[in-house]
Amino acid sequence: MVSNNQLLDRRRFLSLSGSSLAGLTLATCSIVLGNEVQSALDKKARRTLRLAHMTDLHVQPERWADKGLTACLHHVQNLKDRADLIITGGDTVMDSFSQDDQRATLQWNLFHSIMKSECSLPVKSCVGNHDTWGWNKKKSKTSGQEPHWGKQRAIDELKIPNRFYSFDQAGWHFIILDGTHTDGKNGYIAKLDEEQFSWLSSDLANTPSSKPVLIVSHQPILSIASLFRGDNQNEGVWTIPSARMLVDAGILKDLFKKHPDVKLCLSGHLHLVDCVHYCGVTYLCNGAVSGAWWKGDNQECDEGYGLIDLYEDGTFAHQYVAYNWTPMPEPKKESMILRDNGAQFGCPKVPRRLPQCYFQTACNAPFCTQEIRLL
Ligand SMILES: [Fe+2]
Repeated sequence: MVSNNQLLDRRRFLSLSGSSLAGLTLATCSIVLGNEVQSALDKKARRTLRLAHMTDLHVQPERWADKGLTACLHHVQNLKDRADLIITGGDTVMDSFSQDDQRATLQWNLFHSIMKSECSLPVKSCVGNHDTWGWNKKKSKTSGQEPHWGKQRAIDELKIPNRFYSFDQAGWHFIILDGTHTDGKNGYIAKLDEEQFSWLSSDLANTPSSKPVLIVSHQPILSIASLFRGDNQNEGVWTIPSARMLVDAGILKDLFKKHPDVKLCLSGHLHLVDCVHYCGVTYLCNGAVSGAWWKGDNQECDEGYGLIDLYEDGTFAHQYVAYNWTPMPEPKKESMILRDNGAQFGCPKVPRRLPQCYFQTACNAPFCTQEIRLL
């Protein structure tokens, strides 16, 4: 759990971090510093990487999510002290878990279009539950036999080597996990499967003990904010649903105890910001780029991203950065506007005669996001 000396007030934080934060907007209730950070700042260890952890983008045509993601990417790239790497933490699209192919394609194409035109930083990605295509067969109207059904679609869209993988960069070892596991019905459980746990054990065993390890999962391995849901007071019990936090956190904790080089675990999924320091590992949940799914703040969590400095001695510094997004109002069915960026792809114009559906693409060009919006 977070102790008092791990939560520093804003003035103290700024005095510690000096000019490196100039130009940033710091979200309230989200400046979380661990003992590791204090150590790094005191020792003035050499920083080897600045990482922007952008999780829960939930790209969709509605609510100007494309402009929100663009604003976030601009914020990351316009920092005076620019990030070296972006890791997207899952839930890249609003939802493909319960959506048909057409709707999933629309969201992924919108994401690709934005990243192509607005992002010049290298990107690594983690799969989220909403990136997995069609697991709710009933709602997605899929059979499971479609090519790229399930995780494969997310792997292909995100251009990652596997649903879990690792890489080395800047003297650190990065492990990206997949915490979305089928429940055998139309939902999922947050956990690692046996194949993945075995791979993780081997990967850690093969990592030199001198190399610090950072782990990314979509669902938190350990999170205190997981408790903030439902009506615990009236129910008289604290509960954490199995889709909210990895149910195998216990065996992961035990595994990490054998590998003190595991320093930091990043997650998203909750759309909340928290920090848990347990058995030498810091677990950070880094809010959401989309806030409350593009409807504003989610409880205390602004639309934002985690900014993490990694140091050569295995220490790190973390802050949650709000990028000042103003949510758009609820859609009203009475009025509609036409948004047309298809011209740049040589696509035909969207007809002025408006369809009955909520929105539609006007053509099948891969990056065309012509659409009718309800405002
Ligand atoms: Fe999410």
